[in-house]
Amino acid sequence: MIRVFAPGVVKLFGEHAVVYGKPAIAVAVDKGVEVACEKGDKTVVRTGKAYVDIEYEHGTGAAHAKGHEPFLSYVAAALRKAEESFGRLAASFEIRGDFPPSVGAATSASVSVGILKAYSACLGVDVGKAELAKLAHGVELEVQGAASPMDTAVSAIGGMLRIEPNPFSYRRIDSAVDGFVLAVLPRRGTTKDIVAGVRALKARRRSVDAVIDAIGRLVDEAEGCLASSDLECVGELMEINNWLLGALGVVGHDVVMMLKYLKPYIYGGKISGAGRGGIVVLLPKRRQELREALAAMEVPSVEVKVDRDGARVV
Ligand code: PMV
Repeated sequence: MIRVFAPGVVKLFGEHAVVYGKPAIAVAVDKGVEVACEKGDKTVVRTGKAYVDIEYEHGTGAAHAKGHEPFLSYVAAALRKAEESFGRLAASFEIRGDFPPSVGAATSASVSVGILKAYSACLGVDVGKAELAKLAHGVELEVQGAASPMDTAVSAIGGMLRIEPNPFSYRRIDSAVDGFVLAVLPRRGTTKDIVAGVRALKARRRSVDAVIDAIGRLVDEAEGCLASSDLECVGELMEINNWLLGALGVVGHDVVMMLKYLKPYIYGGKISGAGRGGIVVLLPKRRQELREALAAMEVPSVEVKVDRDGARVV
C-alpha cells in the first residue's frame, strides 16, 4: 500500500486578479488530502463513507461513477491523465480529505495532485514536481474549463510561492510567517460561477481593471513584507486585499462583520480563494483568544502551518 499526502493551498494574496495575468502568493499547508493506492484487479475509488465503484474502460478512457458524477469528475479526469502519462494500472484508491470540498482550500487541486502522485508511485514511477503540477493543472482545465495554475502548482511543489500565471513561473518566498488560522464559512456558489461573475462585472465596468491592477501591485508589496516577516505589514495588506476583493463583489457581509469582530486578535484577514464565503485566512496575533472568539461565534476553524515539501509519499 502506498500513501501520498497532497497539501491544501491557502491563497494569501492575488486571487481573481491572477485569472487576468497578475501575480499571486499562495501557500501549501499541513492539512490537505491523503490518497492511498493498492494494486488490484480493477480500479475502485473509495472516499469517506461513500464507497463508489468507478467503471474504468481501458481504451476509451471513459469513467462512470453513478450518482457521484460531480464529486468524482476530478478523480476520473486525474485517473485518465495518469493512465495516458504513466501507463495502465488497476488499483484501489482511498481518498481522505481534511477540508470539505469547495470552500477555497484547493480540495480539487489536492485531489488531482494526490491521485496523480499515488498512481505514479503505485507503478514505481517517480514523477517530478514540475510535471506533477502541469498534469494536475491539465485535470483542472479539463473539468472546470478555466483555472489558473496556482493551486495545483503550490500543492505539488509546496512552500510559499509567488506565482506568475502567464507564462507560468514561480519563486519561493522564504518567510517566518508560517502559521495561520482558517475560518470555514458556508460558501455561496462554485469557483466557476464566482469567477464568471467577476468576468461579467469586468466586461460591464472598465473601472474594474484598476481594481485588478491594484491587486497586482499589492502582491509585489506583500512579497517584500513576507520576506522580511513583517507581521503588521502582511496583516494590513491582507485587509486591503480583502477590500479590493470586496470591490469585485466576492466578499460578503458575513466576512466583513467577522473580521471587524476579530480585529483585536489578528494582524489581518481575508477571504482565500474565489470567495462568497468559504475559507477566511487569519493571521493570528492572540491565538488562544482568536480560537475562543471563533468558537463563541460557532464558526469552525482550523490551525495550519506551512508545508514546505509539497505532494509526497508518506
Ligand atoms: O476558491 P478556490 O480555491 O477554487 O480558488 C479560486 C482562485 C481564483 O483565483 C478565484 C481562480 C483561479 O483559477 O485562480
